[in-house]
Amino acid sequence: MRRVITFGTYDVFHVGHLRLLERARAHGDYLIVGVSTDQLNYSKKQRLPIYPEQERKAIIASLRCVDEVFDEESLEMKGEYIRRHRADVLVMGDDWAGRFDEFTPLCEVIYLERTPSISTTALIEKIQGGG
Ligand code: CTP
Repeated sequence: MRRVITFGTYDVFHVGHLRLLERARAHGDYLIVGVSTDQLNYSKKQRLPIYPEQERKAIIASLRCVDEVFDEESLEMKGEYIRRHRADVLVMGDDWAGRFDEFTPLCEVIYLERTPSISTTALIEKIQGGG
């Protein structure tokens, strides 16, 4: 069994998130998703996500391609999460290309192409009337 792990905020869930998770799952047999906590987002961006963490996690956990979700509480704990969940593969979007190569001693690291023309930030701007 090949265990895949990935991380993200997945706020205002959209098809780019879905495609990433489906492709991540296709790299193994079991997909584990670290959903970043509200607190972690606040410390990173000085704003809270639109959807609170329990709702973001519930949406991700309900997907057919996802087997397990957990709280990502700290960006510095990626190595610890990889070990704890016995991941064989770390998948990240290519907005992070090269940034996680330090984990190659622990697991395979794969970067997947982002779906073009969609992001949570762009959606929020559109809803607010800016796009
Ligand atoms: N993702 C993707 N294609 C998109 C948007 C996101 O493949 N068009 C992937 C990211 O690469 C990441 C995961 O989905 O692996 C979660 O991304 P996240 O940062 O939560 O979503 P974004 O829409 O990129 O949010 P933001 O605009 O706030 O950066």
